[in-house]
Amino acid sequence: MEEKLKQLAGKREKILAGGGPKRVAAQHEKGKMTARERIEAFLDPGSFTELDTFVEHRATDLGMDAVEAPGEGVVTGYGTVFGRTVTVFAQDFTVVGGSLGEMHAAKICKVMDLAMKLGCPCIGINDSGGARIQEGVDALKGYGEIFYRNTLASGVIPQISIIMGPCAGGAVYSPALTDFTVMVDKTANMFITGPQVIKAVTREDVSAEALGGALVHSEVSGCASLMFSNEQETFQAVRKLLSYLPQNNLEEPPVAATQDAVNKRIQGLADLIPDSPNKPYDMRDIIRNVFDDGDFFEIQPLYAQNIITCFARIGGKTVGIIANQPKIMAGVLDINASDKAARFIRFCDAFNIPLITFTDTSGYLPGVGQEHGGVIRHGAKLLYAYSEATVPKITVIVRKVYGGAYIAMCSRHLGADIVFAWPSAEIAVMGPDGAANIIFKKEIEESQAPEETRKQKIEEYKANFANPYKAAMRGYVDDVIDPADTRIKLANALSVLASKRESRPEKKHGNMPV
Ligand code: HXC
Repeated sequence: MEEKLKQLAGKREKILAGGGPKRVAAQHEKGKMTARERIEAFLDPGSFTELDTFVEHRATDLGMDAVEAPGEGVVTGYGTVFGRTVTVFAQDFTVVGGSLGEMHAAKICKVMDLAMKLGCPCIGINDSGGARIQEGVDALKGYGEIFYRNTLASGVIPQISIIMGPCAGGAVYSPALTDFTVMVDKTANMFITGPQVIKAVTREDVSAEALGGALVHSEVSGCASLMFSNEQETFQAVRKLLSYLPQNNLEEPPVAATQDAVNKRIQGLADLIPDSPNKPYDMRDIIRNVFDDGDFFEIQPLYAQNIITCFARIGGKTVGIIANQPKIMAGVLDINASDKAARFIRFCDAFNIPLITFTDTSGYLPGVGQEHGGVIRHGAKLLYAYSEATVPKITVIVRKVYGGAYIAMCSRHLGADIVFAWPSAEIAVMGPDGAANIIFKKEIEESQAPEETRKQKIEEYKANFANPYKAAMRGYVDDVIDPADTRIKLANALSVLASKRESRPEKKHGNMPV
């Protein structure tokens, strides 16, 4: 037995060394940890159990019969984050560039299947040259099987992709199919076709960073949910993100300890918004004041900044917040904002996270670019996502909301359970200037002093319609509240809605506009 134990220790030691000291040193020089170091940094200390350590590839083509790939270039297993189980895989760039072959994919699929059986999140750490070229169609099959599992697991368990190196070619579609993609600045990149292929085909000259770095995917493409400046910071953030989420779609989100009282009036909340409806302010200040401990966790903070999507807590319970951001483009709704908000709403709905919507928007962004870009179908995603959601839905109309944006921002008509409005709310078909110019056109034109009449008509319209009371008269708004009571009202509404049950007609699935 002693001899056999020695043999086991020797085999394990060789595998734990990954691609060897030279390649490990090269990895460290790039500011990157190795796969095992990453798993240690991410999970609760000492909680990791590795699986499939001894898996080997069986490729023989193109010299692969002579290639040793310790651990098959991917470390897989399970462990805990704040004491709750997750499964994890981390591609090992020091072993054949972390490239994905048949057995590498089989290891990943095993921890994905395990996560589905256990009902726990699956976290992937990507650092790979993509399909292992020598393994040909077996590598492609491996990707296909991962995508298939990503899709079946969607809405059942949370899936998070952390990109910590290259992620090229079809490999990018696994992160795209997961719920959140988190990238490390300067060391991670994602693209379908890299700079060399692009140069050959379109003659465009672009660096890997400018093409698919963390910043470009966070600000421009929207493919990244979050970016951080280093690996440690990234792991801490993903741990925090998981702390808001249930383990699966059959559970409620965990309740966090907080000293922040729910029955707290927030004096001065109303002073955060300017008197003039056209003046900007930062909606984050309102969120910070209303939710537990001034804390919230933004998703896609750099993308479509005219809308905010974030997790926060009230009385320790997780909520998903969607809020127009008047500081950026007057909080307009556009293609990207609709896309961002719709995906967030659907995630929350799938995982039993109540939705709280804060509204203050000048409406949909006009323009040829928006129309030709498909704002009709992209904007429809927001309507669809809110209408489809059956979790508790609470709306707070903070200031102005006109026309289609009133309907789209979780109005009563899309199924909001409770709608509050602040006295500063303005709810109407359109803004006073536009409305007065249209309905009083004749009177203005025929008047002796058209400008005077126009101003007077605008004021009249403002006085009669730019308020929350017309909507409250119809019951579209349930209550007009003192802003200082917002936290109390929300906490109370959430507690009442905790037993909400709403079902939808049986169907295979809807056909959401995409
Ligand atoms: C096999 C690979 C590999 C791959 C890297 N390696 N990518 N081996 N298949 N896809 C190996 C290298 O030969 C090298 O081996 C080691 O990994 C490290 O790679 P380097 O090139 O030395 O590292 P670096 O200079 O840091 O460059 C990293 C890289 C580059 C940018 C990722 O390796 C690269 O461009 N790789 C190919 C990327 C790619 O086009 N992949 C296929 C995408 S198509 P040695 O032994 O020298 O250390 C695809 C289709 C999937 O993925 C479709 C799914 C639907």
